[in-house]
Amino acid sequence: MSPASYDHPPLGATAIRPSWGELPGSLRDSITAHLGSAVVTADVQGGGFTPGVAARLGLANDDRVFVKAIPDDHVLSGKYLTEAATSAGLPATAPVPRLRWYGASAGWIVLIFDDLDGRHPDLSPGSADVPAVVTAVSGMGELLTPSPLSDLPSASATRVSLLHGWRELVTCPPVDLGAWERRHLPDLSELETHWARHTEGSALVHGDIRPDNMIISAGEVVFVVDWAQPSRGAAWQDVADLVPHMIMAGHSPAAAEKALIGVQAWDSAPPDVITSYAASFAGYWTRMSRQPAPPSVPNLRGYQRRAAAAAIAWTMYRTGW
Ligand SMILES: Nc1ncnc2c1ncn2[C@@H]1O[C@H](COP(=O)(O)OP(=O)(O)O)[C@@H](O)[C@H]1O
Ligand SMILES: [Mg+2]
Repeated sequence: MSPASYDHPPLGATAIRPSWGELPGSLRDSITAHLGSAVVTADVQGGGFTPGVAARLGLANDDRVFVKAIPDDHVLSGKYLTEAATSAGLPATAPVPRLRWYGASAGWIVLIFDDLDGRHPDLSPGSADVPAVVTAVSGMGELLTPSPLSDLPSASATRVSLLHGWRELVTCPPVDLGAWERRHLPDLSELETHWARHTEGSALVHGDIRPDNMIISAGEVVFVVDWAQPSRGAAWQDVADLVPHMIMAGHSPAAAEKALIGVQAWDSAPPDVITSYAASFAGYWTRMSRQPAPPSVPNLRGYQRRAAAAAIAWTMYRTGW
């Protein structure tokens, strides 16, 4: 089965989030006080997987904002604070929504952004969004080199410690592991380590480049949102992250890579590093998709199964195994 053919909710409908009306009155009151105008419409956004608030709000004064919020004792609240600190440090020229306010409110962490009216990019073959997204992500990497934020963790500290899986799976292979993965487990667990030596760089790496973290505005500008996993490192990482998502959207691995030709960060990355990176994503998603679902996050593991299939296809293509 090809990665694109699994049954799955569409982009933009993967998260289960509270509606505006379900939020505690004290939180709504405090957000309204910060906005300085009453909320008249609230459209919950279903993109992503976290169970936090994500809503586009229309205000009585005709202004519009996008609000994210999560209880301050939630396991993900630190990510929201990281996103706020990162967003606050991005230059005005970056293709991102402006952060208007953030802070603790009524026991919640709240972020208020400019509202973006748009859609998620379509990364399927032939879509005009593909070159637009490639140009936007590569241009963003250039703009954010050197990183405008100084106190970021290195990519080797954050991404390398996260993106792996084969070394765990090889010690106790799951019974449902595919035949190809099982056959190559020792080689994959060795292969997934190599890219770690090539993560160093001075770029601000977004670290979570996916179509649901991008919005194409009515004016066809590609915006990148959700800066919760930033690091300092080599810019090829954000560009290469597009490959498994293009494969998930129906590209062959060869066609997905072809879309990146001409991007300096991609062209200059050593081929064996990219092969190792593909293997590390394949291992990460293969491992994570077998974990129990987090509370109120029903679609994450299914998404990771599809992502694993895409990254495995990418790894097969690059290794020839
Ligand atoms: N500034 C914005 N304006 C309008 N919609 C947005 C904005 N930022 C994000 N979104 C939408 O909300 C969804 C969830 O936001 P995101 O920041 O990615 O949260 P999460 O951390 O839960 O993934 C995104 O997939 C996108 O569709
Ligand atoms: Mg997101």
